[in-house]
Amino acid sequence: MVSPFEVLDVDEDADEAAVERAYRDRVKEAHPDQGGTVEEFQLVRRAYREIDERGRNGGVDAADVDLSDEEGDAAEVEPVRVEFLDYDALADYGWSLDDDDLFRKASHAHLGASEHGRLLVRPDESLLEAAENRGFGWPFSCRGGACANCAVYLVEGELSQPANHVMPDDLTERGFRLSCNGYPVSDELKVVFNVKHLAELDDLILPPGPFTRR
Ligand code: FES
Repeated sequence: MVSPFEVLDVDEDADEAAVERAYRDRVKEAHPDQGGTVEEFQLVRRAYREIDERGRNGGVDAADVDLSDEEGDAAEVEPVRVEFLDYDALADYGWSLDDDDLFRKASHAHLGASEHGRLLVRPDESLLEAAENRGFGWPFSCRGGACANCAVYLVEGELSQPANHVMPDDLTERGFRLSCNGYPVSDELKVVFNVKHLAELDDLILPPGPFTRR
């Protein structure tokens, strides 16, 4: 058993931004493709989850982590499965972000592959990077947490919130996240991307520029 703070190499009183930075550094180092091992990589992911849950539970102590208590023998590195839906489809069909059966409706609507589908996110990829690496053209602008052009709406699962982000607390609480530097911290995700057209995000959008998509 080891302290999750030790795994990420951060102080126990580190703030959210420091933990996020440490996780990003450690998860890259620990990935088997970068010279790490499956065991080390899984440990880093679990450490981050423990600390993240502690933050959301109001500061309850993060439990020590041990692969053997949950994963058993060394598991395969599992990418995170993401089901996605283009916000434009909601507008076209008159659906709402609050619809309980939004993704069931989408699966019956014969949408194009870029509008509704699934992709896998490797642990060293942000959600936006994963979409791009699988050939999708999701919107973005600054790629650094300073706009909402890359925003997605979480229907299920959890995406880490980048440090020093622009998203106000009320929108974060409603489920809006930034995809350019948001990393999945649950095993599965359902997201609506391209939500930058929503009125509540208007003030956070950067105007079109040479490095802006859509
Ligand atoms: S593209 Fe600006 S915050 Fe993601």
